[in-house]
Amino acid sequence: MNYEEAHFIYFSPTHTARAVGKAIVQGLGVGFEETDLTCQQLQGELLVDSKITVVAVPVYGGRVAETAMERLRGVYGRKSPVIPVVVYGNRDYEDALLELKDWCVDHGFIPFAGAAFIGEHSYSRADRPIAAGRPDEADLQLARTFGQKAGYLLKGLGTLEQWPSLEVRGHYPYKVKGPKTLQTPETMATLCTACGKCVKVCPVQAIRWEKPVVSDAVLCIKCCACVKQCPQQARIFETPYTDLLFKNFSARREPELFGLSDL
Ligand SMILES: Cc1cc2nc3c(=O)[nH]c(=O)nc-3n(C[C@H](O)[C@H](O)[C@H](O)COP(=O)(O)O)c2cc1C
Repeated sequence: MNYEEAHFIYFSPTHTARAVGKAIVQGLGVGFEETDLTCQQLQGELLVDSKITVVAVPVYGGRVAETAMERLRGVYGRKSPVIPVVVYGNRDYEDALLELKDWCVDHGFIPFAGAAFIGEHSYSRADRPIAAGRPDEADLQLARTFGQKAGYLLKGLGTLEQWPSLEVRGHYPYKVKGPKTLQTPETMATLCTACGKCVKVCPVQAIRWEKPVVSDAVLCIKCCACVKQCPQQARIFETPYTDLLFKNFSARREPELFGLSDL
């Protein structure tokens, strides 16, 4: 099979998974289509056939972000090659890549390469930076080269059915998810101009038009899309995790690549 096209599927509230996935898909060197599941559900099912697929999602609590898993539910491959990619905020990705790889197999894809990259932590703040500015140019260059290698491998490859099973880091049973806490970002009424950007970028429609704008604590997934994309910096999310992460997980971590080491 000659794979001449790619499909890029992602969930990425603060755009780091999107940036990494896009660099990989660009590296493949073929035309590609995008399915952005950040703010929308699939209408029906999506069958990806005869294309190389790149799936990129963030890590929440050492697992794939739950909303990403929900949005991916209707996506299927037909023995199509896939590159699962997780992006995490410099603490750890624990079982997320394994979980995403398993999802790929269960959904009819053949994972032949995978990666864990680092993105600026959702809870990074200017005075307590955690992986601020990542993925940076070095990360993106690595992602493009990784994509290039994958594209080279697939060029002219007859079939992937005999391809050895992809091994990634992670454990069974997957890490148990912690209980949901009901804190949400808040709006500083004096700065808010009611421009509506936060409402548009919220992946789960948790933000309501009231004065000041408020988040529904049950719906909110604390992704901080509203905090990072507010043009007035009127949205804040103060969590003790910021201090903890800044103190313990500021040392630079490097991306991990799986499956193409012998190329
Ligand atoms: C609720 C939540 C949980 C998170 N858990 C982790 C984690 O377990 N490990 C980690 O390193 N980063 C964690 N992060 C940080 C994100 O993985 C990181 O910021 C990622 O780059 C966000 O992806 P996005 O920009 O595509 O939304 C978490 C972020 C949120 C919002």
